[in-house]
Amino acid sequence: MKEIEILVLPGDGIGPEVMLQALRVLEKISDITNLPFVIHEDLIHGQAWDAYGTFCRDETVDRAKSVDAVLVGAVGGEQWGNLVPNGTPEEKDGLIRLRKELDVFAGIRPAKSYSHLRERSPYRHELLREVDLIVLREMCGGVMFASPRGIEKDGAQLIRGFDTAAYNLEEVRRHAHFGFQLARQRNKHLTSVDKANVMESGVFWREVVSGLASEYPDVHFENMYADNCSYQLAINPKQFDVILADNLFGDILSDQAAALSGSLGMLASASLPDDPSNSPGIYEPVHGTAPDIAGKNIANPIGMILSLALMFEFGFSMQEISEKLHLAVEEVTRTGPLTPDLGGLGTTSEVTDAILHSLERNF
Ligand code: NAI
Ligand code: MG
Repeated sequence: MKEIEILVLPGDGIGPEVMLQALRVLEKISDITNLPFVIHEDLIHGQAWDAYGTFCRDETVDRAKSVDAVLVGAVGGEQWGNLVPNGTPEEKDGLIRLRKELDVFAGIRPAKSYSHLRERSPYRHELLREVDLIVLREMCGGVMFASPRGIEKDGAQLIRGFDTAAYNLEEVRRHAHFGFQLARQRNKHLTSVDKANVMESGVFWREVVSGLASEYPDVHFENMYADNCSYQLAINPKQFDVILADNLFGDILSDQAAALSGSLGMLASASLPDDPSNSPGIYEPVHGTAPDIAGKNIANPIGMILSLALMFEFGFSMQEISEKLHLAVEEVTRTGPLTPDLGGLGTTSEVTDAILHSLERNF
């Protein structure tokens, strides 16, 4: 069987702690299925800066382009905050460079509600039943990348800070096609969000996306203003299937959707290129480096482990393994142990132990 090559980038803060658990899960899957994984490990962002004086080395980019999938823990921390003040987004952040280099524009961020974790959510139980949605965030363009951008100063006096909210036709088209196709594989409902009422880039986005809807007559399509979407996510989340969003609205709406699952530590993501079967995607939890709990072995490993499930589903088309991982996580939400973010007393490694046992029993 052909080897499956994976680049592992643990990152900063709790990144290495949750990545360690993902590697234990991979090893277990390899034991059970005999899949031959080859793991390459490297440094990214803060760790890379400390070792090499750059947030992402060219060697790391080359390796990322040559493997079948890239796994990332989390990156960032105050100490690496303002080291390249006049740099581009790619120069300021190793992970952003990697996303851009791999052109992984389609950010899949699923949120679902687990019946045994509803206590942890700020929402009423009946609101959460059957919630199973994906925020599809554009990852490589928009206001986080487009120029001009900058901070104007007169000597030491701050004058003006600005970014440019801009997308070109191809960027919106490919993202929208991805969204329609993703909805087609699910409940066939696509909600595109924008601020077309007040932004030209929003008018543009709405026209381009709406123009493609006739190519997908089987998908129920609607436009929604992003602020209303935020409100609807709170009052009636089960109306959504796939939410198509630009980089900024997708960033915000996916964190909001995380609250439906009970903890940010539960959320996984996949950032995919145009053809995920042909070039590597990046799989990482949605959460950050959580400096407040780093080094204590209490970080929730589930977001990281469910990112593996996304890798098997979207990167390798191995649905069965993905489903077994989801089942194992579901089981642990029922039986425990759970980490403190979910109200439990379990450690990161104990939660993973339970997931490993469940995998062993249910494969
Ligand atoms: P964060 O996600 O790191 O933490 C927010 C809150 O959630 C904290 O209270 C944290 O303890 C908790 N939390 C996060 N993940 C958890 C887990 N697995 N288990 C239990 N609790 C968890 O976001 P914050 O504080 O805004 O950012 C911290 C650093 O992480 C910053 O440097 C930021 O730039 C970076 N960051 C990196 C991301 C990435 O690598 N993709 C995404 C978001 C933030
Ligand atoms: Mg975010």
